[in-house]
Amino acid sequence: MKLREAKAGDLDFITELENRPEYLNLVYRWPRDRHLASLKDPDLRYLICEDERAGACGFAILCGLSQPERTVKLQRVAVATPGRGQGSALLRAVTRLVFDELGAHRFWLGVYADNARARAAYRGLGFVEEGTLRDGALRADGFVSLVLMSILEQEYRAGAV
Ligand SMILES: CC(C)(COP(=O)(O)OP(=O)(O)OC[C@H]1O[C@@H](n2cnc3c(N)ncnc32)[C@H](O)[C@@H]1OP(=O)(O)O)[C@@H](O)C(=O)NCCC(=O)NCCS
Repeated sequence: MKLREAKAGDLDFITELENRPEYLNLVYRWPRDRHLASLKDPDLRYLICEDERAGACGFAILCGLSQPERTVKLQRVAVATPGRGQGSALLRAVTRLVFDELGAHRFWLGVYADNARARAAYRGLGFVEEGTLRDGALRADGFVSLVLMSILEQEYRAGAV
Protein backbone atom coordinates (compact mmCIF):
# COMPACT_ATOMS: atom_id res chain seq x y z
CA MET A 1 0.00 0.00 0.00
CA LYS A 2 1.40 3.36 -1.10
CA LEU A 3 0.44 6.83 0.08
CA ARG A 4 0.54 9.80 -2.30
CA GLU A 5 -0.73 13.37 -2.47
CA ALA A 6 -4.19 13.72 -3.98
CA LYS A 7 -4.83 15.85 -7.07
CA ALA A 8 -7.99 17.44 -8.46
CA GLY A 9 -8.38 14.34 -10.64
CA ASP A 10 -8.90 12.27 -7.46
CA LEU A 11 -12.00 14.22 -6.39
CA ASP A 12 -14.38 11.87 -8.22
CA PHE A 13 -12.97 8.98 -6.20
CA ILE A 14 -13.10 10.94 -2.91
CA THR A 15 -16.66 12.22 -3.38
CA GLU A 16 -17.84 8.79 -4.55
CA LEU A 17 -16.62 7.27 -1.28
CA GLU A 18 -18.05 10.09 0.84
CA ASN A 19 -21.44 9.71 -0.82
CA ARG A 20 -21.78 5.93 -0.58
CA PRO A 21 -25.21 5.23 0.93
CA GLU A 22 -23.67 2.81 3.47
CA TYR A 23 -21.30 5.56 4.65
CA LEU A 24 -24.09 8.14 5.13
CA ASN A 25 -24.06 7.89 8.94
CA LEU A 26 -20.35 7.16 9.24
CA VAL A 27 -18.53 9.97 7.50
CA TYR A 28 -19.11 13.66 6.78
CA ARG A 29 -19.06 14.92 3.19
CA TRP A 30 -18.21 18.14 1.42
CA PRO A 31 -19.41 19.44 -1.96
CA ARG A 32 -16.87 19.20 -4.76
CA ASP A 33 -16.26 23.00 -4.73
CA ARG A 34 -15.27 22.84 -1.07
CA HIS A 35 -12.83 20.02 -1.84
CA LEU A 36 -11.36 21.96 -4.77
CA ALA A 37 -10.71 24.97 -2.53
CA SER A 38 -9.37 22.79 0.31
CA LEU A 39 -6.93 21.02 -2.03
CA LYS A 40 -5.18 24.38 -2.52
CA ASP A 41 -5.32 25.33 1.17
CA PRO A 42 -1.89 24.95 2.83
CA ASP A 43 -3.61 24.08 6.12
CA LEU A 44 -4.90 20.82 4.63
CA ARG A 45 -3.27 17.74 3.10
CA TYR A 46 -5.14 15.30 0.89
CA LEU A 47 -3.74 11.77 0.71
CA ILE A 48 -4.67 8.81 -1.47
CA CYS A 49 -3.67 5.25 -0.70
CA GLU A 50 -3.01 2.99 -3.63
CA ASP A 51 -3.02 -0.75 -3.87
CA GLU A 52 -0.63 -2.28 -6.44
CA ARG A 53 -3.44 -4.15 -8.18
CA ALA A 54 -6.61 -2.12 -7.60
CA GLY A 55 -5.23 1.45 -7.71
CA ALA A 56 -6.79 4.02 -5.37
CA CYS A 57 -8.21 2.22 -2.34
CA GLY A 58 -8.86 5.02 0.15
CA PHE A 59 -8.22 8.61 1.14
CA ALA A 60 -7.45 10.72 4.19
CA ILE A 61 -7.68 14.48 4.74
CA LEU A 62 -5.52 16.18 7.35
CA CYS A 63 -5.89 19.71 8.66
CA GLY A 64 -4.12 22.06 11.05
CA LEU A 65 -0.85 21.92 9.12
CA SER A 66 -0.28 25.68 9.08
CA GLN A 67 -0.90 26.10 12.81
CA PRO A 68 2.03 26.61 15.21
CA GLU A 69 0.67 24.14 17.82
CA ARG A 70 1.89 21.03 15.97
CA THR A 71 -1.60 19.64 16.34
CA VAL A 72 -2.92 17.80 13.30
CA LYS A 73 -6.52 16.70 12.89
CA LEU A 74 -7.65 13.73 10.85
CA GLN A 75 -10.48 15.52 9.10
CA ARG A 76 -11.75 12.53 7.14
CA VAL A 77 -10.86 8.98 6.17
CA ALA A 78 -12.56 6.29 4.14
CA VAL A 79 -11.53 3.16 2.28
CA ALA A 80 -13.15 1.43 -0.67
CA THR A 81 -13.31 -2.02 0.94
CA PRO A 82 -13.93 -1.78 4.69
CA GLY A 83 -13.37 -4.55 7.23
CA ARG A 84 -10.32 -6.12 5.56
CA GLY A 85 -7.48 -4.24 7.20
CA GLN A 86 -7.19 -1.60 4.45
CA GLY A 87 -8.23 1.22 6.79
CA SER A 88 -5.78 0.21 9.51
CA ALA A 89 -2.96 0.09 6.94
CA LEU A 90 -3.92 3.52 5.61
CA LEU A 91 -4.19 5.00 9.10
CA ARG A 92 -0.83 3.53 10.10
CA ALA A 93 0.86 5.12 7.06
CA VAL A 94 -0.90 8.44 7.71
CA THR A 95 0.08 8.42 11.40
CA ARG A 96 3.72 7.83 10.47
CA LEU A 97 3.59 10.73 8.03
CA VAL A 98 1.96 13.00 10.63
CA PHE A 99 4.69 12.42 13.23
CA ASP A 100 7.77 11.61 11.12
CA GLU A 101 7.29 14.04 8.23
CA LEU A 102 4.99 16.76 9.53
CA GLY A 103 6.56 16.86 12.99
CA ALA A 104 3.25 16.83 14.86
CA HIS A 105 3.00 16.58 18.62
CA ARG A 106 -0.68 15.62 18.72
CA PHE A 107 -2.80 13.79 16.13
CA TRP A 108 -6.52 13.79 16.88
CA LEU A 109 -9.98 13.24 15.45
CA GLY A 110 -13.66 13.17 16.26
CA VAL A 111 -15.65 10.01 15.46
CA TYR A 112 -19.39 9.39 15.67
CA ALA A 113 -19.97 7.42 18.86
CA ASP A 114 -21.85 4.64 17.03
CA ASN A 115 -19.08 4.08 14.44
CA ALA A 116 -17.71 0.99 16.22
CA ARG A 117 -15.49 -0.09 13.31
CA ALA A 118 -13.70 3.25 13.05
CA ARG A 119 -13.26 3.46 16.83
CA ALA A 120 -11.73 -0.04 16.83
CA ALA A 121 -9.39 0.92 13.99
CA TYR A 122 -8.15 4.03 15.84
CA ARG A 123 -7.82 2.16 19.15
CA GLY A 124 -5.80 -0.54 17.39
CA LEU A 125 -3.30 2.12 16.35
CA GLY A 126 -2.91 3.47 19.87
CA PHE A 127 -5.37 6.34 19.77
CA VAL A 128 -6.86 7.08 23.18
CA GLU A 129 -10.48 8.07 23.73
CA GLU A 130 -10.33 11.36 25.61
CA GLY A 131 -13.95 12.41 25.93
CA THR A 132 -17.36 12.73 24.35
CA LEU A 133 -19.05 15.77 22.89
CA ARG A 134 -22.63 14.85 23.75
CA ASP A 135 -24.89 15.43 20.71
CA GLY A 136 -21.85 17.08 19.18
CA ALA A 137 -22.90 16.52 15.55
CA LEU A 138 -26.09 16.73 13.56
CA ARG A 139 -26.55 13.88 11.07
CA ALA A 140 -29.37 13.04 8.68
CA ASP A 141 -30.88 10.85 11.42
CA GLY A 142 -30.56 13.45 14.20
CA PHE A 143 -28.00 14.47 16.80
CA VAL A 144 -25.17 12.07 17.55
CA SER A 145 -22.36 12.20 20.09
CA LEU A 146 -18.78 12.67 18.95
CA VAL A 147 -15.93 10.79 20.62
CA LEU A 148 -12.61 12.65 20.62
CA MET A 149 -9.53 10.46 20.18
CA SER A 150 -5.84 11.30 19.98
CA ILE A 151 -2.34 9.94 19.95
CA LEU A 152 0.62 12.00 21.19
CA GLU A 153 4.14 12.05 19.79
CA GLN A 154 5.62 10.23 22.81
CA GLU A 155 3.03 7.45 22.52
CA TYR A 156 3.83 7.07 18.83
CA ARG A 157 7.58 7.02 19.56
CA ALA A 158 7.02 4.42 22.30
CA GLY A 159 5.80 2.12 19.57
CA ALA A 160 2.06 2.45 19.71
CA VAL A 161 1.85 2.41 15.89
C1 LIG B 1 -13.13 3.48 9.38
C2 LIG B 1 -12.37 2.68 8.33
C3 LIG B 1 -11.32 3.57 7.64
C4 LIG B 1 -11.65 1.53 9.07
O1 LIG B 1 -10.97 0.76 8.13
P1 LIG B 1 -11.31 -0.81 7.91
O2 LIG B 1 -10.44 -1.29 6.81
O3 LIG B 1 -12.76 -0.98 7.71
O4 LIG B 1 -10.92 -1.42 9.31
P2 LIG B 1 -10.03 -2.71 9.56
O5 LIG B 1 -10.48 -3.85 8.70
O6 LIG B 1 -8.61 -2.30 9.46
O7 LIG B 1 -10.43 -3.05 11.07
C5 LIG B 1 -10.15 -2.17 12.10
C6 LIG B 1 -10.67 -2.73 13.39
O8 LIG B 1 -12.10 -2.71 13.36
C7 LIG B 1 -12.61 -4.01 13.69
N1 LIG B 1 -13.85 -4.15 12.93
C8 LIG B 1 -14.01 -4.53 11.64
N2 LIG B 1 -15.32 -4.49 11.32
C9 LIG B 1 -15.97 -4.08 12.44
C10 LIG B 1 -17.34 -3.84 12.75
N3 LIG B 1 -18.29 -3.98 11.81
N4 LIG B 1 -17.64 -3.40 13.99
C11 LIG B 1 -16.70 -3.24 14.94
N5 LIG B 1 -15.39 -3.45 14.70
C12 LIG B 1 -15.04 -3.86 13.46
C13 LIG B 1 -11.52 -4.96 13.24
O9 LIG B 1 -11.61 -6.18 13.94
C14 LIG B 1 -10.29 -4.19 13.62
O10 LIG B 1 -10.05 -4.28 15.00
P3 LIG B 1 -8.76 -5.05 15.53
O11 LIG B 1 -7.59 -4.30 14.95
O12 LIG B 1 -8.88 -4.91 17.00
O13 LIG B 1 -8.88 -6.43 15.00
C15 LIG B 1 -13.32 2.07 7.25
O14 LIG B 1 -14.20 1.15 7.89
C16 LIG B 1 -14.16 3.09 6.49
O15 LIG B 1 -13.70 3.67 5.51
N6 LIG B 1 -15.41 3.30 6.94
C17 LIG B 1 -16.34 4.19 6.28
C18 LIG B 1 -16.00 5.66 6.56
C19 LIG B 1 -15.72 5.91 8.04
O16 LIG B 1 -16.36 5.37 8.93
N7 LIG B 1 -14.74 6.79 8.28
C20 LIG B 1 -14.32 7.14 9.63
C21 LIG B 1 -14.95 8.40 10.06
S1 LIG B 1 -14.36 8.93 11.66
